[in-house]
Amino acid sequence: MGQWAVAVHGGAGVWRDQDEGRICTGVAAAVAGARAVLDGGGSALDAVVAAVLQLEDDELFNAGTGAALNRDGDAELDAAVMSGKDLRCGGVAALRGVRNPVLVARRVMEASPHVLLAGEGARRFAQEQGFDVEYDPVTARAREVWVARSKAGPTLEPPSPAGDTVGAVALDRNGHLAAATSTGGTILKLPGRVGDSPIPGAGNYASAWAACSATGRGELMMRLLAAKALCDRVQAGAAPQPAADSLLVLMRESVGADAGFILVSASGEVGIAHGTPAMPHAWQRQGAPVQARFRCG
Ligand code: GLY
Repeated sequence: MGQWAVAVHGGAGVWRDQDEGRICTGVAAAVAGARAVLDGGGSALDAVVAAVLQLEDDELFNAGTGAALNRDGDAELDAAVMSGKDLRCGGVAALRGVRNPVLVARRVMEASPHVLLAGEGARRFAQEQGFDVEYDPVTARAREVWVARSKAGPTLEPPSPAGDTVGAVALDRNGHLAAATSTGGTILKLPGRVGDSPIPGAGNYASAWAACSATGRGELMMRLLAAKALCDRVQAGAAPQPAADSLLVLMRESVGADAGFILVSASGEVGIAHGTPAMPHAWQRQGAPVQARFRCG
């Protein structure tokens, strides 16, 4: 049996005027959720879903309950899961009325012949699978932020006043890798807009060599298929940290670096990088204490 490793992020962004301690507690708790699975010999897939579930239910993060709202003031949620050992993946996009989109994404992977379901079709699938589709993920805080940003009108500020997206990557004791990512997307996005998170290879990817969850302005990740690019770099021999650092340099020079990444390799090495002011994250390797940070450096 090998040794497990896990990393989670709570979203790259500005995170202005936020309680850093409370947010780091949130990402550390998500690692604890994954650790409980991995310590018991559970799969990387179960571990990343457990971590993301926890962050979707924590209204401080932009995913599930508390997600950022679109131009119309509605929550349209994106999520994905991917299993590295067999390249199976599933995702949902612009999904409404569901508490935990990551669970529906997993069900798309396991109970449908498809990889990605969007909008009303995704919601009908969730309902057919027994999920409550009348859940309201909109919190008072998300509504307040939306009202303030709507009044401000067009602005040059970053799209998200706090963070963007949650994600988890894990290596289990059998040497298998998985990734899961979930988001409300960018605040004031056009209805129907789909970001990188549910797109395999853009915001979420796992292979036999590495697993990656991306965060930041999805339009950037989609242009470079950033999550797969990072897994490919690890497959080609790069260590996760320099791989993530150098991809951010490439992004800064080409499409923009409003982005962040977590990745873990098949040898349990972790890479964490962001081009934004902050990206709360936490990681742990078997036998070592959990590490939680509000930003890198
Ligand atoms: N990275 C999340 C999004 O752009 O939707």
